[in-house]
Amino acid sequence: MKNQQPLLHRDTFRLEFGAGEPPLAHWAQQMKRSMLREMLAVVARPGILSFAGGLPAPELFPTNEYAQVTAHVLATDPAALQYGPPYVPLKRHIVHLMAERGVSCHEEQVFLTSGAQQGLDILARLFLDPGSPVILEERVYTGIQQAVAPLEPQILTVTTDLETGMDVEAVAAYLEQGTRPALIYVNADCHNPLGVSLSLEKRRRLVELACRYGVPIVEDDPYGFLHYDGRAQPPLAAFDNRCVFYLGSFSKILAPALRLGWMVAPEALIPKLTVIKEANDLESSAFTQRAVCAYLDAGHLPAHVDDLCREYRRRRDAMLAALERYFPAEARWTRPAGGMFIWVELPGRLDTVALLKLAVEREKVAFIPGTAFCADQRPLLTGELCRAAHCLRLNFSNCTPERIEDGVRRLGRIVASEFGHR
Ligand SMILES: Cc1ncc(COP(=O)(O)O)c(C=O)c1O
Repeated sequence: MKNQQPLLHRDTFRLEFGAGEPPLAHWAQQMKRSMLREMLAVVARPGILSFAGGLPAPELFPTNEYAQVTAHVLATDPAALQYGPPYVPLKRHIVHLMAERGVSCHEEQVFLTSGAQQGLDILARLFLDPGSPVILEERVYTGIQQAVAPLEPQILTVTTDLETGMDVEAVAAYLEQGTRPALIYVNADCHNPLGVSLSLEKRRRLVELACRYGVPIVEDDPYGFLHYDGRAQPPLAAFDNRCVFYLGSFSKILAPALRLGWMVAPEALIPKLTVIKEANDLESSAFTQRAVCAYLDAGHLPAHVDDLCREYRRRRDAMLAALERYFPAEARWTRPAGGMFIWVELPGRLDTVALLKLAVEREKVAFIPGTAFCADQRPLLTGELCRAAHCLRLNFSNCTPERIEDGVRRLGRIVASEFGHR
C-alpha cells in the first residue's frame, strides 16, 4: 500500500475560499466538503460496477403506473400546477401507511416534506440553538450532520452494536449526568450505513428515556417499509408520538426524484414547522403530491412494495453469499433484515479510502469507505485514521444478483491481495 495516494486528499476537505470573497458566516467558513458526494462523483465513471450509492433499482421504478396517474392529474386537476396548501387526501393515505407500521396518528399530525432530508433540516432548525449538544451514533447517515452543521452543535456520540443497534445505555448515561441534548437522532430500521435494526427492548428504553427527560427523538425511517425477513419491529413513534418526530419518505418505495416525504409530529407544532419549511422551499410540489396520491388511490403501492422486497431480498442474499465466498474469513459484516446496505469490517489496519482507489483502478468496482460516515470528522482534517477506517459500506439494491456476485468477487480479490489472504 506504500506508494498509494488516497483517492481523495485528506487535506482538501476544508473548502477554501479565495481572497476578495465576501465574508462568510462562521459555520460556512468551517464547512467541509461532503466526502460522500466526492466519492460518489469519483466512482460514477462509466464501466465502474458500483456498490457505492444508496440507489434504488431503476428497473423497478413504477414508470408506467406513474405516467398514467400524472397524465390523469394533469387532465383533471387545475390545482396541480399551482401554489397550494398541503394536499389533505395524501395525508389521509399517510395516516394509513403509518397504521401499517403500527403508528396511530391523525391527518393533522402529518406534515408533508420534500423528502426525509428536508425533515432533518426543519427539525434541526426547530430544536437547535447555536452550539446545542446533539446525540448521534459514531457511524451515522451523513445527511443529519449536514442538517445540524449550520447550528454548530456539540456532537455527542454513542457506539452501535452491529446486532442490536445504538448503545441506548450510553444515551441514558448522558441524560443521567445532566446533559440535555437538543435532539437524539435514530435510524432504527435498516440503518444507513450499518444495516442493523434496533432491538425491541432498546426501542422501548430509548423512548422511555426521551420522554422522561423531555428530549426529542428524530426517527429517520426511509427504509422501514423495505423488510425482507418477516415483519418489521414497530418504529419508535409507535411507542409515543409526542417526543418522537417520525420521518418517512417515498424515495425508496417509489422514487427519489419525486422528492416527497412526510413527518409525523405533535399537531401543536405544525404551524412552526410550516413557517420553517416556507423559508426553505415554500411548499412541496402540488403536482407531485397529487400524482402520488392518485398512485395510492389506484392501490398500486402494496404490490409494488412486495415486488421491491422480493427482489431486494434476492440481492441481499446474493451479496451475503458472495461475501462468504470471496472475503477473508477474518472479515465480518452485518446481515440486514431490510434496507439497502451491508457494513463490512475488514481485519487489520487497512485504510479503505486507499483500498477504494485500488478497487476502482484495478478491478473497476466501488464502495464507500467507512470514514465517510464518522460523526466525528476531525480526524479527516488532521490526517488521522478514524475508527471506521477499516470498514466499508456496500449497497445491494442497485445491482442484479449476477453483478453482485461478480463485483464482490473482484472486491474480494483486491482485499485478498492487500492482506495476503485466500
Ligand atoms: C437514513 C437516511 N435518511 C434520509 C435520507 C434522505 O431521504 P430522502 O430522499 O427522503 O430525502 C436517506 C437517503 O439515502 C437516508 O439513507
